[in-house]
Amino acid sequence: MLRGILFAVLVTSFSAAATGQSHKVIFDTDFILPPGDDGLALLLALQSPELEILAITTVAGNASVERATAEVLWLLEAVGRTEIPVYQGADMPWVHERSDFAVDHHGKWYSNDAPPPPPGGHAQKKVEKETAVELLVRSVLASPNEITIVAIGPMTNIATAIRQNAAFSESVRELVIMGGAVASLQDGAGNITPNAEFNFWVDPEAARVALRSGIPIMLSPLNVSRKTALSKEWYEKMVASDTAITRLLRTTMGPRFERDPDRVWFMYDQVAVGSLIDPTLVVTEELFVDVDDNRGVSYGTSVGGTEIWPGAEGAKKMKVQHDLDWRRFIEMFVERMNAPVRARTR
Ligand code: RIB
Ligand code: CA
Repeated sequence: MLRGILFAVLVTSFSAAATGQSHKVIFDTDFILPPGDDGLALLLALQSPELEILAITTVAGNASVERATAEVLWLLEAVGRTEIPVYQGADMPWVHERSDFAVDHHGKWYSNDAPPPPPGGHAQKKVEKETAVELLVRSVLASPNEITIVAIGPMTNIATAIRQNAAFSESVRELVIMGGAVASLQDGAGNITPNAEFNFWVDPEAARVALRSGIPIMLSPLNVSRKTALSKEWYEKMVASDTAITRLLRTTMGPRFERDPDRVWFMYDQVAVGSLIDPTLVVTEELFVDVDDNRGVSYGTSVGGTEIWPGAEGAKKMKVQHDLDWRRFIEMFVERMNAPVRARTR
């Protein structure tokens, strides 16, 4: 009798734990296909039972928003996950204009070119009619404190939603951001200017609004990305099995490693997703973090400190990742790329 009760309690608590651990996620991305980090981050999310992807929203960043949308639609079709709706978002940052520096450096957020067809041609799947911001506000308000937003591109869509509806910020469960670089922690240099990270630099005004919104934030800056190293050796383990995902990876990543077998990539957005799947993979520190939106040498730079400092009044405290259990992270990543492709959820 006692054993029966114990078993019932265990079964109940196991299934409660299983459902309780599944984060409802909106995935906001300046998408590019693998070997781009957004593409690999989405594959990790799709292969993770801990996450339920409600929708994907696109934003200009790595490429134009049209290209981001075209490539995410293609990837979903290629891996049989067309049940996930895609909403197109901002095609430009709020204020930051095209400049010679931007044209010469990483990123095509200013591009007006038509998106090139992904391998084999554009997807049949279509983008939704509603905009990214409409979707974000509608979904979050309909399910207060239930939805986590994973934001791995410029913060334009997120900040626009924050500005558009006063109740939005207090209704988001958590915002997991890949962005910024914190100079007061190890490995805190920038990757687009000496101190600024790409996502925050593309739209500094939006990043500042998102960071100051009061939404609970887990920040995954360059400090933690720099603890990663995706090499050909790991790639070969990733594609050891034969599935729709490994075939996609062989098509998109294989030629890059054939051309340059010694190439090693940092993993940016993948770490942000990994930290939501398993927070024990990363080491964090609680810091106030703010973004410089003054047009000058530090435009787009994020600054973190244990106390508020002059000029940062209004900054909020957040969890800032600065280290990672690399071996455990990459083994989880490889295992999920190799696993049978997860079935549609609806
Ligand atoms: O700085 C890294 C970030 O900018 C990542 O989100 C990546 O996709 C890039 O473009
Ligand atoms: Ca990105």
